[in-house]
Amino acid sequence: MKILIAYASNNDTTQMCAELLGEKLPGADIVNLRRTKPAIDDYDTVIIGSCIRFNDVHNAAKDFIGDNLDKLMKVNTAIFLCCGFPEKINQYLLHNIPKKLLDKSVSIQCFGGRLKVKPYKLVDQLVMKIVKKNFKVSKREFTSIDNESISKMAEDILKLK
Ligand SMILES: Cc1cc2nc3c(=O)[nH]c(=O)nc-3n(C[C@H](O)[C@H](O)[C@H](O)COP(=O)(O)O)c2cc1C
Repeated sequence: MKILIAYASNNDTTQMCAELLGEKLPGADIVNLRRTKPAIDDYDTVIIGSCIRFNDVHNAAKDFIGDNLDKLMKVNTAIFLCCGFPEKINQYLLHNIPKKLLDKSVSIQCFGGRLKVKPYKLVDQLVMKIVKKNFKVSKREFTSIDNESISKMAEDILKLK
């Protein structure tokens, strides 16, 4: 089985998650969609990962899905998102990903996210400061990377063999 993990990340969390997932799927190719537009013809399984910002997936992930939707409908697909508010995952999915792609995907997961402040840009630091304050006020743990969800997606993919 030839697997592509195609991700778009702003501040490395999604990239880290793509790499953690890749360790569990030996032989998978991992591609940064901000740098490369991979041809998916060589793959029978395509996993798409994106960070969420202001409720949206990264434009590079959106473009990749838009450009390849017909082909994606013919291969195994899986989707993961990294975000600060995992409880909103369904809202983010429905808002950003074509329903027919969601319906056919063999695995859909939220891999959690990180609320680190550095090395975000100044505007990002301000947003994250507010978010962190809100987390503290509501005595809520900061979101972190969800290793269980990563393992679950790897299991779902390996079952396809
Ligand atoms: C400017 C900014 C906006 C964000 N907007 C959202 C959002 O709307 N919803 C959410 O759940 N998380 C939001 N987050 C949190 C990120 O999704 C989280 O930090 C994630 O780990 C980022 O992934 P990345 O490091 O791959 O870019 C935002 C973060 C930043 C810096």
